[in-house]
Amino acid sequence: MLHLKKTKKRLPKAIIVGVRKAGTRALLEMLNLHPKIAKASSEVHFFDIAENYEKGLDWYRHQMPYSYADQITIEKSPAYFITEETPQRIYQMNNTMKLLLIVRDPTERAISDYTQIYSHKQEKNKNYDRFEDLALDPETKEVNTHYKAIRTSVYHRHMSQWLKYFPLEQICVVDGDKLVKDPLPELQRVETFLGLERYLSNKNLYYNASRGFYCLRNDTMNKCLSDSKGRQHPDVDPKVIAKLHHYSAT
Ligand code: A3P
Repeated sequence: MLHLKKTKKRLPKAIIVGVRKAGTRALLEMLNLHPKIAKASSEVHFFDIAENYEKGLDWYRHQMPYSYADQITIEKSPAYFITEETPQRIYQMNNTMKLLLIVRDPTERAISDYTQIYSHKQEKNKNYDRFEDLALDPETKEVNTHYKAIRTSVYHRHMSQWLKYFPLEQICVVDGDKLVKDPLPELQRVETFLGLERYLSNKNLYYNASRGFYCLRNDTMNKCLSDSKGRQHPDVDPKVIAKLHHYSAT
């Protein structure tokens, strides 16, 4: 494959480890507007899928983009956050790895997670339960803590696994709700965390009213994220929402 002189594939120095449906794609694409960032376009799933992990670090490196020595290679695989083996595996590869974790309101995240699966089922003409029936235990009517979309939203439980290996200073927690409403301050925090020169500005982001989201631009491109980001969520029974809010607050 052709590539520019002085570029080569390098292991990442930063990884967006999750959380799924919290804005991981938006964060990666927005950071990639910075000239010192080189992103892996697709999710690599090296540390969470045994079959990939067994292929070794050369395989992992091969999944990365070509980059210059002064660029930071970054990948995002949101399943890393909830996979128990992942923190130790990343630590073994590079204990100075910078970790980015984007979170959003846990109830909204769970509904977004449900909406994604619901939409995939619909595409295949398959039926799927209502969110309410999955989120509450059918007998007790209490929060169904076994439902994966709920479990993923219990951030502190997963976070405790990461903190066994990485100090908090190595983890930048991005507020996904703020990234939707006013992305620049969150991105500037990440620039600082990654030790990058301030580059991103309001010139790189513009609000697109018909999408209802910020879209991205630089000298060579202008794009919004795909329609699979920002799906309409179903109307969820407010009593169920209240139960979930109460659960996440306790
Ligand atoms: P919804 O689809 O629930 O609205 P991920 O990339 O981790 O799957 O996250 C998807 C979420 O990114 C979307 O959730 C959306 O709210 C959020 N998001 C944040 N900034 C966005 C942007 N600029 N364009 C589209 N979606 C964005």
